[in-house]
Amino acid sequence: MTTAPPEQAEAESQGLLLQLLDPANRADPYPLAAQFRDRGAMLLPEMHLAVFSSYRDCDEILRHPSSSSDRMKSTAAQEQVKAQIEELTKDGAPPPEQVPPGFLFLDPPDHTRLRKLAGKAFAPKVVNALRPDITALVDGLLDRIAEKGSFDVVEDFAYPLPVAVICRLLGVPLDDEPQFSHASGLLAQALDPFVMFTGSASDGLQERLDAGAWLRGYLHGLIERRRSRPGDDLMSGLIAVEESGDQLTEEEIVSTCVLLLVAGHETTVNLIGNAILAMLRQSSQWSALGADANRASAVIEESLRYDPPVQMLVRIALSDMLIGDAIVPEGDVIMLLLAAAHRDAAEFDRPDVFDPDREVFRHLGLGRGAHYCLGAPLARLEAGVALSALTARFPNARLGSEPLYKPNVTLRGLSALTVEV
Ligand code: HEM
Repeated sequence: MTTAPPEQAEAESQGLLLQLLDPANRADPYPLAAQFRDRGAMLLPEMHLAVFSSYRDCDEILRHPSSSSDRMKSTAAQEQVKAQIEELTKDGAPPPEQVPPGFLFLDPPDHTRLRKLAGKAFAPKVVNALRPDITALVDGLLDRIAEKGSFDVVEDFAYPLPVAVICRLLGVPLDDEPQFSHASGLLAQALDPFVMFTGSASDGLQERLDAGAWLRGYLHGLIERRRSRPGDDLMSGLIAVEESGDQLTEEEIVSTCVLLLVAGHETTVNLIGNAILAMLRQSSQWSALGADANRASAVIEESLRYDPPVQMLVRIALSDMLIGDAIVPEGDVIMLLLAAAHRDAAEFDRPDVFDPDREVFRHLGLGRGAHYCLGAPLARLEAGVALSALTARFPNARLGSEPLYKPNVTLRGLSALTVEV
């Protein structure tokens, strides 16, 4: 923990938090991550916030029984919502309608119930059956790239694959995808901690709220169509459960589909992009994977550690929590900086080196504990097929531009990168 006088330490910590939001740090957030790690655990009581950046602390918090994923249990969120409702209802208007969040943001028993229902679609056996379709999709993309001679990593390769797969799994028509890809991107930005760090939302709040409302409306419409003509997809499966008793509501089906659509759009694409960039910057890794597809799993796990698509996670302290020598008060928000934890020299040998040949992969890139990524088998399968096929087909690929990044802090990822093949 920091030893400066409390006010000075808190001001310095706030300065670092603002830098985390600064787009200038998006291309390479790791020097800043190192500064967080050097400061140790940060307690900001005025902000009801605690920030952890060592591997050991992050790991412990993710396993801790007092860690909640329900944002509404935080003191700060309760104060904000109370103030917002007072403002909105001061002229006698009714309070705004609440919709349930996706189960990523719920605790037991609702989390357990909804995760179990959605989990059937992501069981390893179900996911492995998708391999032929995923291989065919990847081959089609590679054929088009071969004709062009160069390609954009995101637009031409990393994005179309996971999006086609999640649409097929959920039962969302791929033809409608252009409409909701925009909404998905905006919802991913809503995960960024602007309100927590600055006290106000980043620009575009209304646009994000509208995107969320539009996506929910779209999914309600699709549910109505699926009720009369069910398919073998997850949405139809959830509708059948809803109609068979009181296990879940239509609003919960919509929230689950929003969660899976956004997860399917905004994460695997970043893993594939980050792995391509890391291998092209160290071309022996590109050649090695091209020559031996069995290396794919090691490349994927090391990419999840070295440049994680999910850069931070949030928990709420359900009671006073002792983490290392820091006490987090009940109700405070806890930020876990995975990007920093993954470069922690106390845990990883040569942490700043991309090395798929390291012996152990203890990363937190897919989470840990009860909320461990439900889509992990799917993400690993998609990335494995994509990266091994790409490197084998184009052994002489090389970088054709500097990478550009999306503005997102939490779900950081490439927006564009040209590769010559
Ligand atoms: C490389 C790609 C992916 C990464 C890096 C990733 C990362 C993560 C992480 C870190 C968590 C834990 C969140 C927390 O503890 O608060 C998580 C949870 C989750 N992920 Fe993924 N994910 C990926 C792909 C996917 C895919 C493709 C899907 C499904 C379409 C998916 C669905 C989910 C769901 C539903 C949860 C919530 C689980 C729960 O709350 O029980 N993820 N993911």
